[in-house]
Amino acid sequence: MTRVAVIMGGWSSERPVSLVSGRELARAGREAGYDVVEIDAGRDLADQLKAAAVDVVLNGLHGPFGEDGCVQGLLEVMGLPYTHSGVLASALAMDKQKSRAIYAQVGLDIAEGGLFARSEIAARHVMEPPYVVKPVAEGSSFGVIIVREGANGPPREVAEAGWAFGERVLVEKFIPGRELTVGVMGDRALAVTEITTLREYYDYAAKYDHGGSRHIIPADLPDEITTAALDAALKAHQALGCRGVTRSDFRFDDEAGRLVILETNTQPGMTPTSLVPEQAAHVGVDFPALVRWMIEDASCQR
Ligand SMILES: Nc1ncnc2c1ncn2[C@@H]1O[C@H](COP(=O)(O)OP(=O)(O)O)[C@@H](O)[C@H]1O
Ligand SMILES: [Mg+2]
Repeated sequence: MTRVAVIMGGWSSERPVSLVSGRELARAGREAGYDVVEIDAGRDLADQLKAAAVDVVLNGLHGPFGEDGCVQGLLEVMGLPYTHSGVLASALAMDKQKSRAIYAQVGLDIAEGGLFARSEIAARHVMEPPYVVKPVAEGSSFGVIIVREGANGPPREVAEAGWAFGERVLVEKFIPGRELTVGVMGDRALAVTEITTLREYYDYAAKYDHGGSRHIIPADLPDEITTAALDAALKAHQALGCRGVTRSDFRFDDEAGRLVILETNTQPGMTPTSLVPEQAAHVGVDFPALVRWMIEDASCQR
């Protein structure tokens, strides 16, 4: 019987989210017939994996280390097949400025913007509001600040000592309209989900609080927009060199008719009610079948 390690938790700010994903992945893995061991990843992950004597790693980590190529590199060194994207694709997708450059190169529409020093962002409006300030390498909407039209001044908190998201920060024009997300499973874009929330935007609470957001699947869109979103997610996945399951986030400005890609998540949320599992179910792949597919797809690239 294939012995699978579900690695989860870790020490990024997305630890609580990862523990939930990990527990659900483990449950589904057992349901799919695997011998599953759950590992709360520490700095001694290599020792933990060695002690568990596993054949495959099912990666349930989110955020820095688990999603940015570091853990992937460790698994390459250990020669252990693992799920999701490899080292380079994980690192590129985690860095929003690097992935923006790649999206632009393959003709995907991105929001106007770029990196600025945090002292500069705090001192003056670096672009005409509305705009969005966000860490270049975080997830779960951590550190995202929306500067509205008519805002009094620039976001001064970016210069404060407590800012934990680096010296260079991404600033993007705010794209009005609707929030869309598209999962990809191998070479297949699954479905388009529209996310609505009563909160100001799709922030951490909207993502994880009970009732914080609604998922509309399939999104009620003109056919050509649905097709464009499916194509764009697959194009982003391929341009970054991703593997396994990914999920790309978009804004659709219905007035301007613009579909703007925000980011590609190489380790998307994995509870049965998360966006990708919901989309897989929508096309007839239930959660244990999705987890089985991920495990069978696991590899070491070198
Ligand atoms: N340029 C933008 N225009 C409008 N909303 C944005 C923009 N960038 C981010 N947002 C909002 O912030 C959320 C989080 O941003 P995102 O780029 O997906 O980062 P992450 O999910 O990794 O924190 C988005 O889902 C969206 O609601
Ligand atoms: Mg996102």
